Amino acid sequence: MIHQIQRLFRHRHFHDIIECLIAALEAKDLYTSGHSSRVADMSFDLARALGLKGVYRDNVHIAAHLHDIGKMGIPEYILNKKGKLLPHEWAQIQRHPEIGYSILMKSRELQRIAEIVLHHHERWDGKGYPHGLLADKIPLGARIIGVADAIDAMTSARPYREPMSWEACIEEIMLNKGVQFDPVVVEGADKLWKKWKLRWSQSFKHET
Ligand SMILES: [Fe+2]
Ligand SMILES: [Fe+2]
Repeated sequence: MIHQIQRLFRHRHFHDIIECLIAALEAKDLYTSGHSSRVADMSFDLARALGLKGVYRDNVHIAAHLHDIGKMGIPEYILNKKGKLLPHEWAQIQRHPEIGYSILMKSRELQRIAEIVLHHHERWDGKGYPHGLLADKIPLGARIIGVADAIDAMTSARPYREPMSWEACIEEIMLNKGVQFDPVVVEGADKLWKKWKLRWSQSFKHET
Protein backbone atom coordinates (compact mmCIF):
# COMPACT_ATOMS: atom_id res chain seq x y z
CA MET A 1 0.00 0.00 0.00
CA ILE A 2 2.71 2.50 1.04
CA HIS A 3 4.61 1.59 -2.07
CA GLN A 4 1.51 2.30 -4.19
CA ILE A 5 0.96 5.69 -2.52
CA GLN A 6 4.62 6.60 -3.00
CA ARG A 7 4.38 5.62 -6.64
CA LEU A 8 1.25 7.69 -7.10
CA PHE A 9 2.84 10.79 -5.54
CA ARG A 10 6.00 10.34 -7.54
CA HIS A 11 3.94 9.91 -10.66
CA ARG A 12 1.86 13.04 -9.97
CA HIS A 13 4.94 15.14 -9.31
CA PHE A 14 6.49 13.81 -12.48
CA HIS A 15 3.31 14.43 -14.44
CA ASP A 16 3.20 18.09 -13.26
CA ILE A 17 6.78 18.68 -14.43
CA ILE A 18 5.92 17.15 -17.80
CA GLU A 19 2.86 19.41 -18.15
CA CYS A 20 5.06 22.48 -17.46
CA LEU A 21 7.53 21.41 -20.16
CA ILE A 22 4.70 20.97 -22.63
CA ALA A 23 3.18 24.34 -21.74
CA ALA A 24 6.60 25.86 -22.57
CA LEU A 25 6.55 24.12 -25.96
CA GLU A 26 2.98 25.09 -26.73
CA ALA A 27 3.65 28.73 -25.87
CA LYS A 28 6.01 28.67 -28.83
CA ASP A 29 4.04 26.55 -31.28
CA LEU A 30 0.64 28.23 -31.72
CA TYR A 31 -0.94 25.42 -33.70
CA THR A 32 -0.37 22.63 -31.22
CA SER A 33 -2.20 24.16 -28.26
CA GLY A 34 -3.83 21.27 -26.37
CA HIS A 35 -2.52 18.76 -28.92
CA SER A 36 -0.11 16.97 -26.56
CA SER A 37 -2.66 16.44 -23.82
CA ARG A 38 -5.27 15.05 -26.23
CA VAL A 39 -2.66 12.71 -27.74
CA ALA A 40 -1.72 11.68 -24.19
CA ASP A 41 -5.36 10.94 -23.30
CA MET A 42 -5.94 8.91 -26.45
CA SER A 43 -2.64 7.04 -26.05
CA PHE A 44 -3.51 6.16 -22.46
CA ASP A 45 -6.90 4.76 -23.59
CA LEU A 46 -5.24 2.77 -26.39
CA ALA A 47 -2.53 1.42 -24.07
CA ARG A 48 -5.22 0.27 -21.63
CA ALA A 49 -7.29 -1.29 -24.43
CA LEU A 50 -4.19 -3.18 -25.57
CA GLY A 51 -3.69 -4.54 -22.05
CA LEU A 52 -0.66 -2.47 -21.01
CA LYS A 53 -0.40 -1.93 -17.27
CA GLY A 54 1.71 -0.19 -14.63
CA VAL A 55 4.96 1.37 -15.69
CA TYR A 56 4.51 0.30 -19.34
CA ARG A 57 1.23 2.20 -19.60
CA ASP A 58 2.63 5.17 -17.64
CA ASN A 59 5.59 5.37 -20.03
CA VAL A 60 3.29 5.51 -23.06
CA HIS A 61 1.18 8.20 -21.40
CA ILE A 62 4.18 10.38 -20.47
CA ALA A 63 5.88 9.83 -23.84
CA ALA A 64 2.65 10.95 -25.52
CA HIS A 65 2.68 14.19 -23.50
CA LEU A 66 6.28 14.72 -24.59
CA HIS A 67 6.18 13.38 -28.14
CA ASP A 68 6.75 16.77 -29.81
CA ILE A 69 9.11 18.24 -27.17
CA GLY A 70 11.88 18.30 -29.82
CA LYS A 71 9.98 21.05 -31.63
CA MET A 72 11.58 23.35 -29.05
CA GLY A 73 14.71 23.01 -31.18
CA ILE A 74 12.98 24.06 -34.43
CA PRO A 75 12.86 27.76 -35.45
CA GLU A 76 9.51 29.40 -34.69
CA TYR A 77 9.07 30.77 -38.20
CA ILE A 78 9.01 27.19 -39.50
CA LEU A 79 6.66 25.87 -36.79
CA ASN A 80 4.21 28.72 -37.35
CA LYS A 81 4.54 29.05 -41.13
CA LYS A 82 1.14 29.29 -42.79
CA GLY A 83 2.13 28.32 -46.33
CA LYS A 84 3.69 25.15 -47.70
CA LEU A 85 7.05 24.20 -46.20
CA LEU A 86 10.12 24.32 -48.42
CA PRO A 87 12.16 21.08 -48.60
CA HIS A 88 14.87 22.35 -46.23
CA GLU A 89 12.20 23.53 -43.74
CA TRP A 90 10.49 20.15 -43.88
CA ALA A 91 13.88 18.49 -43.27
CA GLN A 92 14.26 20.64 -40.13
CA ILE A 93 10.80 19.69 -38.83
CA GLN A 94 11.69 16.02 -39.31
CA ARG A 95 14.54 16.41 -36.85
CA HIS A 96 12.15 16.92 -33.91
CA PRO A 97 12.00 13.24 -32.81
CA GLU A 98 15.81 13.11 -32.55
CA ILE A 99 15.99 16.47 -30.78
CA GLY A 100 13.32 15.25 -28.34
CA TYR A 101 15.29 12.05 -27.79
CA SER A 102 18.47 13.89 -26.93
CA ILE A 103 16.62 16.23 -24.53
CA LEU A 104 15.03 13.30 -22.68
CA MET A 105 18.18 11.16 -22.66
CA LYS A 106 19.71 13.73 -20.28
CA SER A 107 17.73 11.89 -17.61
CA ARG A 108 18.51 8.22 -16.98
CA GLU A 109 14.96 7.76 -15.67
CA LEU A 110 13.48 8.88 -18.96
CA GLN A 111 15.39 6.50 -21.27
CA ARG A 112 12.42 4.29 -22.17
CA ILE A 113 10.29 7.37 -22.75
CA ALA A 114 13.05 8.89 -24.92
CA GLU A 115 13.02 5.77 -27.15
CA ILE A 116 9.27 5.99 -27.66
CA VAL A 117 9.55 9.71 -28.53
CA LEU A 118 12.39 8.99 -31.00
CA HIS A 119 10.19 6.63 -33.01
CA HIS A 120 6.77 8.34 -32.96
CA HIS A 121 6.96 9.16 -36.70
CA GLU A 122 7.97 5.67 -37.83
CA ARG A 123 5.44 3.84 -40.03
CA TRP A 124 4.30 0.21 -39.97
CA ASP A 125 5.45 -0.17 -43.63
CA GLY A 126 8.96 1.08 -42.78
CA LYS A 127 8.59 4.38 -44.66
CA GLY A 128 8.63 6.61 -41.59
CA TYR A 129 11.44 8.52 -39.92
CA PRO A 130 14.03 8.83 -38.42
CA HIS A 131 15.14 5.19 -38.81
CA GLY A 132 12.60 3.62 -41.18
CA LEU A 133 11.87 0.85 -38.64
CA LEU A 134 9.41 -1.79 -39.82
CA ALA A 135 6.27 -3.11 -38.04
CA ASP A 136 6.95 -4.52 -34.58
CA LYS A 137 10.55 -3.30 -34.65
CA ILE A 138 8.92 0.04 -33.74
CA PRO A 139 8.37 0.30 -29.95
CA LEU A 140 4.69 -0.37 -29.14
CA GLY A 141 4.34 2.99 -27.37
CA ALA A 142 5.48 4.78 -30.53
CA ARG A 143 2.97 2.80 -32.64
CA ILE A 144 0.20 3.85 -30.23
CA ILE A 145 1.23 7.52 -30.26
CA GLY A 146 1.48 7.42 -34.08
CA VAL A 147 -2.23 6.62 -34.34
CA ALA A 148 -3.33 9.09 -31.63
CA ASP A 149 -1.17 11.86 -33.15
CA ALA A 150 -2.65 11.35 -36.63
CA ILE A 151 -6.21 11.32 -35.27
CA ASP A 152 -5.71 14.58 -33.38
CA ALA A 153 -4.00 16.26 -36.34
CA MET A 154 -6.86 15.34 -38.68
CA THR A 155 -9.70 16.35 -36.33
CA SER A 156 -8.09 19.71 -35.43
CA ALA A 157 -8.44 22.95 -37.37
CA ARG A 158 -5.42 24.54 -39.03
CA PRO A 159 -5.26 28.10 -40.39
CA TYR A 160 -5.38 26.66 -43.92
CA ARG A 161 -8.05 23.96 -43.47
CA GLU A 162 -11.16 22.96 -41.55
CA PRO A 163 -11.01 20.01 -39.15
CA MET A 164 -11.95 16.63 -40.63
CA SER A 165 -15.07 14.98 -39.19
CA TRP A 166 -14.39 12.10 -36.77
CA GLU A 167 -16.16 9.71 -39.15
CA ALA A 168 -13.95 10.69 -42.10
CA CYS A 169 -10.86 10.61 -39.88
CA ILE A 170 -11.51 7.04 -38.67
CA GLU A 171 -12.19 5.97 -42.26
CA GLU A 172 -8.79 7.38 -43.22
CA ILE A 173 -7.10 5.62 -40.28
CA MET A 174 -8.76 2.30 -41.31
CA LEU A 175 -7.49 2.75 -44.87
CA ASN A 176 -3.97 3.01 -43.45
CA LYS A 177 -4.28 -0.03 -41.21
CA GLY A 178 -1.22 -2.19 -41.85
CA VAL A 179 0.22 0.53 -44.12
CA GLN A 180 1.08 3.49 -41.93
CA PHE A 181 -0.37 2.11 -38.69
CA ASP A 182 -0.18 -1.03 -36.56
CA PRO A 183 -3.39 -3.02 -37.31
CA VAL A 184 -3.91 -3.93 -33.65
CA VAL A 185 -3.68 -0.28 -32.53
CA VAL A 186 -6.11 0.72 -35.29
CA GLU A 187 -8.59 -1.90 -34.03
CA GLY A 188 -8.31 -0.32 -30.57
CA ALA A 189 -8.93 3.16 -32.01
CA ASP A 190 -11.97 1.86 -33.88
CA LYS A 191 -13.51 0.84 -30.54
CA LEU A 192 -12.64 4.13 -28.80
CA TRP A 193 -13.24 6.94 -31.29
CA LYS A 194 -16.89 7.55 -30.36
CA LYS A 195 -15.83 8.23 -26.77
CA TRP A 196 -13.13 10.65 -28.02
CA LYS A 197 -15.56 12.37 -30.37
CA LEU A 198 -17.91 13.01 -27.46
CA ARG A 199 -15.08 14.32 -25.30
CA TRP A 200 -13.62 16.76 -27.82
CA SER A 201 -16.07 17.66 -30.50
CA GLN A 202 -17.84 20.10 -28.12
CA SER A 203 -14.62 21.75 -27.00
CA PHE A 204 -12.78 24.41 -28.87
CA LYS A 205 -9.71 23.08 -30.62
CA HIS A 206 -6.79 24.99 -32.08
CA GLU A 207 -7.72 28.63 -32.03
CA THR A 208 -5.74 30.18 -34.90
FE1 LIG B 1 5.77 14.71 -33.92
FE1 LIG C 1 2.17 15.57 -32.51
